[in-house]
Order: sequence, then structure tokens, then C-alpha cells
Amino acid sequence: MERFYITTPIYYVNDVPHIGHTYTTLAADTIARWKRLAGAEVFFLTGTDEHGINIERRAREAGLPPQEWVDRIAPKWQALWARLRISNDDFIRTTEPRHIRLAQHLFQEAYNRGAIYKGIYEGWYCPSCEAFYTEDELLEGRLCPIHKRPVEWNTEENYLFRLSQYQDWILRKIEEEPQFVQPETQRNEMLSFIRGGLRDLAVSRTTVKWGIPVPFEPTQTIYVWIEALMNYVTAIGYLDDPDRYRRFWPESRHLMGRDITRFHAVIWPCFLQAVGLPSPKQVWAHGFWTVEGEKMSKTRGNFIDPLSEITRLEETSGARWEVAADAFRYMLLREVPFGQDGDYSHAALVHRFNADLANDYGNLLNRTLALVERHFSGAIPAPGAPEGPDGALQRMAAVLPDAADQRMAAFDFTRALADIWRFLGAANKYIDETAPWAALKAGDRTRAGTILYNTLEALRIATILLTPVLPAATQEVWEQLGVAQPLGGQRLADAREWGGLRPGTRIRPGRPIFPRIETRVEAGDAAAAPRAPAGGKGGTKKMDEITIDEFNKVDLRVAEVLEAKAVAGADKLLELRVRIGETTRTVVAGIAQQYAPTSLIGRKIIVVTNLQPRRVRGVESQGMLLAATHDNQVVLASLDHDVPSGVRIK
Ligand code: MSP
Repeated sequence: MERFYITTPIYYVNDVPHIGHTYTTLAADTIARWKRLAGAEVFFLTGTDEHGINIERRAREAGLPPQEWVDRIAPKWQALWARLRISNDDFIRTTEPRHIRLAQHLFQEAYNRGAIYKGIYEGWYCPSCEAFYTEDELLEGRLCPIHKRPVEWNTEENYLFRLSQYQDWILRKIEEEPQFVQPETQRNEMLSFIRGGLRDLAVSRTTVKWGIPVPFEPTQTIYVWIEALMNYVTAIGYLDDPDRYRRFWPESRHLMGRDITRFHAVIWPCFLQAVGLPSPKQVWAHGFWTVEGEKMSKTRGNFIDPLSEITRLEETSGARWEVAADAFRYMLLREVPFGQDGDYSHAALVHRFNADLANDYGNLLNRTLALVERHFSGAIPAPGAPEGPDGALQRMAAVLPDAADQRMAAFDFTRALADIWRFLGAANKYIDETAPWAALKAGDRTRAGTILYNTLEALRIATILLTPVLPAATQEVWEQLGVAQPLGGQRLADAREWGGLRPGTRIRPGRPIFPRIETRVEAGDAAAAPRAPAGGKGGTKKMDEITIDEFNKVDLRVAEVLEAKAVAGADKLLELRVRIGETTRTVVAGIAQQYAPTSLIGRKIIVVTNLQPRRVRGVESQGMLLAATHDNQVVLASLDHDVPSGVRIK
């Protein structure tokens, strides 16, 4: 059986979590859940890093002894993870006796083996990082590269770890094992860091009292970073449960943000090597979330609280809180390729909720169940002989679980989700094109039943595959589908088999799981010439009444974007080539600040086709697309689900 040990960093308890920390933990949770789905034996660890000068200071500011402070903050992290249904198997706190024992044991071992020696350490020191920096790592004006604050020249008599001796070893390891540090950008960064030369590392402190005492010289404490890294072997049972350690350590993966790759990919393996223990299997460093382009940090205080983001989505959508939490997780994992940096916005969350969850997934479920309820008395119809596009949908389903599994194994959440959404898109297209309502009208109940069965079957498969990302929402979908077997017991193998739904099963349609968020549209606001919303924020401008005949003079059509490019010399304009039925035309629109040209290709939009043509910056615009302007953002109008281009809208 495959085993899988996944860790998050242990978070500092000097403050409360923001979306950055939540991101790492949600990603780790998703992988852990995926691996369980794939049948692996999983151990998922998270925890808190509770020693060091920063915590000591923070406690002093709060007027509390450090132990009381950490005892007060650590439960907040645990509560957050519980609220977000994080499925960790253990939660480690570095102030626990099991960890103190392990840290002293390994430190002693390194000393016994001659890997730690007493010496003088001096250098530029950032008290916030609790780390020394070399001259060339500092920013101009001798500022810490992380905190952008002045560093101090620091001299200490303490114990040093012979990191420099492992330089060739770790360089070769990272060169020869391309999978050891991922993604590639981080691997390259580590290689050049090592080639720049490794210096011995101060691993004890005389000045810091709040730490684990050096076993052979208790007036010193073990440097918090070295001690913190050891949590990964404490929790897997190196001292307490050697059997578990033996089974899981060779399958260990450390997940973290790229701010702390060095500690995990260089220092930690070297230290383990020094004490005769194997390296973790993989170190995976993801990118950073910014807010309006600014780095989020506790020090700066510009951080976004994940719980309030979720509550805001819950309130605007009316979805259950747990479903809103799922949507938040989905958005973080879908929006930005894992490993790259991303800018967080609530608007992106709303967009993903509406477009992907409410439309593509939720609405497909609602309308299919409604047809079964109405025409088949709420019992899943038995499928007849496959016809036309049925086979294509089934073939797509057959390859999806393994394709997604491969993506997930490579931490490629974005592509795994895109694959699943392509399948949902195909299922939407399938029901639209096979039109069960037409078969019913023609009296062909067998065909209508087959189509509905196939669509529900596609939903069953997608739902199993989505459990790691949408644990609460998929549970609700599952209940509405009426499947008797618990969702928690489903495995990847169940998603591989077409035909898992039992005909005759009583469906249980309920209220929409992802209720669409209505974003108010300003009357008369179209994107051809975006302007500030009239009538104040969120208000609707009073306009003259028109008759239905007058309205009918406006020819609105579904259009598919074929090409999109910037208009030279205009930073707001894009030139689009769109297909409307059999014809194509050019539309110039003021949407360049919100939409990248490539993101529009293949999208269905709504175009007014009978406006008089107009020349804009030398380009003839033969129509106007519909969009809402809100908070100075232009948001394209779209359709609830896919319809062919050329269809009229009234
Ligand atoms: N205590 C150390 C880790 C010790 S691990 C042996 C630490 N803690 S921390 O609380 O500062 O958490 C850092 C981690 O939080 C990052 O590595 C990353 O996983 C996550 N993030 C913090 N801010 C982040 C963003 N803005 N964006 C993405 N992830 C972020 O460092």
C-alpha cells in the first residue's frame, strides 16, 4: 500500500493566521484527502512553532509568561483548522515534552558525532527572522530582505553546525534528484544559493531564554529554527513510535511557502545527514499571496482573515458556511498555479463561486435532478442503449480519475481542477445538445432516461473527484443524488467505473447548494465606454420606461470570442473578433484593465449586434458587448450555462 506523509510548516504563535497560512494548510489537506481517496495510508501533520525571541517578546508585550501566551494562542490555530475541517492526523506543539525530548536527543547526537562545535558567530542579524544574513543578501541600507527593517551586527559565543561540510553533498543531492526540491524555480534557487557557499550555522543562543536548553550546556537554548524543523520527526514517532517512523519517514513531503525553502531544502537535510538520518522525500515550496500587489505579513498588519472572507461569501450567497469555506479553498487552489505568486481579491472568489460552482456544477445538478423529479417521479431512470455523444462522455470519464491523480501527485491543483471542470463543461454541453426535454416531447422516454442517467453519472464521478477540494459541498451533492453508500467510503476506483448509480434510486433534490450571488447591474452601463457608475454605489439609475416593442429593437446575441488583442495606444481597449452564428465581426470594448486577451478566447459573451458601427482608435467596432461596471471594475455579462453562439437573448 502506498504511504504518504505530508507536513505543513509549524506556524508561529506570535499572531493569528491569515490567508497565506491557510493556503498552505488547505493545500496540504487537499493532498492528504486526495491520497486517502486514492487508497494510500496517509499521515498529515500540522502544528505550532512556540519558542524563540519573537514569541518571548510578544508574550512580554501581552504581559504574560511565554508559556501562558503560547497556551492561549495555539488553540486558536487548532480551532481555525477544525472550523475549516482540516483532516490532520496530529497537531504538534514544540513546547510539548515529546518534542523537547526529541530536540535534545538529536542535538546531543549531532554534538557526539562532531557536527556541532563551540565557536564565535558574528554577522548581520535580523531579530524578527532570528537569522543571520550575509552582506549581499541584505537590501540597500542594510535592511532585512524579509522585514525590510535594519539588521544588527551581532557577536555570540555559541554552538555552530558544520553546514559548510555538507555543501558538496547537498549540491549533488539536489542536482541528482530533480524531484527532491520542487517546483523547478525553487530548485534552481536552492542550487545557486548552495553554489554561493554555505557557512556554518549558529544553532544555539545565549541571549534567548525561551527555548529548549542545549542538553550539554543548559545556559544556552537551541536555535529555534533547527529545533522547529525537528518537529517532523518528533511527530512521526522517531522516539515514541519507531515503527510508524520507519513506515512513514521515507514517504515524507514537506509543504511550505517559498520564504522558508532554504531551511527545509538545505539546512534540514544536512542536519539529518549529520545525525545519520535520511532526508525527507520531497520539499515543495509554493508561491506567495499578495493583497493589492503588497506582500502580506504579520509585521505589516495588512493581512486578510480567512474566516471573515468566508463569512462574507456565506452572507452574500446564502450558501452554508461550510460550503462557502469549500469555495474559498477551491478559489485559492484553482486561481493560481501552485508554485506561482498570486494576488488575492474577494472579487475572484465571487467570480469562481458563480461561474464554476453555481453554474457549471450546481446548476447542472439542479436542472438534471429537476427533470428526473418531474418526469421520472424522482427515481433515477435506467439507461438504454448508448447513442451519439454518450460514448464520448463516457470515454472522457474513463480517463479523468487517473489524469487528475497524476496532476495531484505533482501538486498541480490548477490543472487537476481544470480537467474536472472540462468534464463538467462536457456534461453541460451533453445535456444541452442531446436535449432530454425534446426526447420527452417526442415521447421517447427511454432516450430521455438515458441522457439523464448519463448526466447524473457524470455528476457522481465529478463529485467523488471533488471531495478533497469541496468536502462539505460534495457531501450535499451526494445526498441530493440519493446514493446509499457513504461518500467518505468512496475511492478513486469508484470514480473509474461508469455505471455506479443504481437505477431506481430515489433522488433527494434540495435547495441550491451554491446559490448564485447576484451582482447588481447598472442600468444602461455597457462596457463599450466604461464610466463611473451613475447614481452612487450600488444604486440603480432611474430611466425612462420603454415598451416591449422598443426593447425588441435591440438585437442581443450570444457571441463566442475567437481572437482578442490590445488596441494600440489605448490602455483600456481590446479588439475582439467574435463569432455570432455563421458570421464573425469585430467589437472594440473597454475591458483591457480587467481581462487579459488570452483569458477571453473561447468565452461566450453577449453582444448588441444592431448598433451603428463606430470607429474607435482607427478600428471599426461592429457591436457592443454587455458588462456591468461596479466599484470601477468592468464585469462581463455571461450566460447561466453554455448555449451556441448566435442565439438571441431577450
Ligand atoms: N515557524 C516557521 C516555520 C517553521 S517550519 C519548521 C514559520 N512560521 S510562519 O507562521 O511564519 O509561517 C510561514 C508559512 O506560512 C509560509 O512558509 C507559508 O507556508 C505560509 N505563508 C505565510 N504568508 C504567506 C503568504 N502571503 N502567501 C502564501 N503563504 C504564506 O515560518
